[in-house]
Amino acid sequence: MSTADNERWWRNAVIYQIYPRSFADGDGDGIGDLTGIREHLPYLAGLGVDALWLSPWYPSPMADAGYDIADHRDIDPVFGTLAQAEELIGYAHRLGLRIIVDLVPNHCSDAHPWFQAALADPAAPERDLFWFRPGRGPDGAEQPTDWVSPFGGGTWTRTTDPDGSPGDWYLHLFAPQQPDFNWDHPRVRAEFADIIRFWLDRGVDGIRIDSAAMLAKDPTLPQVTDDGPHPFVDVDAVHDIYRDWRRIADSYPGDRALIGEIWLPDQQRFANYLRPDELHAAFNFDFLGCAWTAVALRACVDATLAAHAPVGAPATWVLSNHDVTRHVTRYGRADTTFSFATRREGVPTDLELGTRRARAAVLLSLALPGAAYLYQGEELGLWEVEDIPHALRQDPMFVRSGGADPGRDGCRVPLPWAGDAPPFGFSPDGATARPWLPQPADWKDRTVRAQTGDPHSMLELYRAALALRRTEPALGDGELAWLPAPDDVLAVRRAAGFTCLVNLSGGAVPLPEHTALLLASSPLDDDRLPPDTTVWLRTSD
Ligand code: GLC
Repeated sequence: MSTADNERWWRNAVIYQIYPRSFADGDGDGIGDLTGIREHLPYLAGLGVDALWLSPWYPSPMADAGYDIADHRDIDPVFGTLAQAEELIGYAHRLGLRIIVDLVPNHCSDAHPWFQAALADPAAPERDLFWFRPGRGPDGAEQPTDWVSPFGGGTWTRTTDPDGSPGDWYLHLFAPQQPDFNWDHPRVRAEFADIIRFWLDRGVDGIRIDSAAMLAKDPTLPQVTDDGPHPFVDVDAVHDIYRDWRRIADSYPGDRALIGEIWLPDQQRFANYLRPDELHAAFNFDFLGCAWTAVALRACVDATLAAHAPVGAPATWVLSNHDVTRHVTRYGRADTTFSFATRREGVPTDLELGTRRARAAVLLSLALPGAAYLYQGEELGLWEVEDIPHALRQDPMFVRSGGADPGRDGCRVPLPWAGDAPPFGFSPDGATARPWLPQPADWKDRTVRAQTGDPHSMLELYRAALALRRTEPALGDGELAWLPAPDDVLAVRRAAGFTCLVNLSGGAVPLPEHTALLLASSPLDDDRLPPDTTVWLRTSD
């Protein structure tokens, strides 16, 4: 890659998320791996994306599908070896694809050697690297705080001392197998600075930071209140950590990017993470959760751009990831918004409508200024798989909520590559193991092979849009203006000569004057734009 290519690539890159367990299985054990990813890198280069973000590939007991890391400097044997990872980074670069690795600094696995040492001896210095606290009430039998985990249930688990008596409690904001690090301890900071260097030394172009707003805690561990500052979300001290990391990233050649996973309702607080000496970018979950209406989408785009402008950071546009209901399904429902609190199964869903809207949505998101994130399988139009037998579900969100939350397995089902029946080429021919989650038989029409060359397929829409995004100068970093448009129609103008029109109304609308129709998400209706359709136009202005 040339030096010019390197410059601020993260400002308008299209970044494709690989969820390694479910991308492609090279060794036939039913679980995706690095061999499978390597085999399909040419597919991703051909798709037209700029970078790949890989969800965790490190050694892990997989209590949270790899977000519980036991060793940050190696690869889990189920996925491959460190040598294979290094080779994959090199091969990706040769194909023109950048690599972003996933860093999980809020917590580790309970199998991590530090945590094991802390458990083995209450006097061990490793104890201070975590949050061990005595319980409240008689005999310390009550957890130290009443904090509620995003995974449901409490955030503390009681330990047993080596003599068999009940001991202190330790903090885990997520599952009990994910003890939280104490970021006030210099050893934790030094360790992560070293881990970041370890991966930057191996040539990775970026680091996605998991649960980035949660690392710092109020050390007095107060209860959560409605009005006071939150004790573990967005505590101000977290920004010092990112200033340190920015210095590390900036000390490397080649423009390495830090990208935060930050779920915060307040756009201003969110933008604080993107100040020039902190993270380069963060996922825009407001857009992901936004209702499919013109008013809501326009307000979301405006609020996003307004929050990012003062700190000079690029906006990002995200429709799906490994934690949320796939957007083909969301957009096929009466309520098109997403929130963890209201996620349910069995809601009436029109997949045809959802697919039509998903096609329109991706053309909108790729026409907006900033970087775009795609989640594996969205380019195939995959929907949320809701009928996974309960006994096969693995997500702690499902288990810990007693099934009230369906969990995230439905968006993590292994990809269909080719063929008429499961495993749809996910595993090599002759593999005896089944994919780790069952694939719907109906995915036979959604395989890469079935869609390739079909101009009406989701895959060919993505290929066409990504190719245009590379060649259309208007679709780079830059400004956006709203043009006057009929009710419930969005008209986005980028640099002179490019207009993106989205029809969110119930009827067809006329197209504005244009010199060329570059791409349409669905066929036009006698030169008019039908409902739930986006079009990219070249205009003469
Ligand atoms: C992030 C990840 C999610 C994981 C959680 C705990 O939200 O995206 O998959 O379960 O952090 O690590």
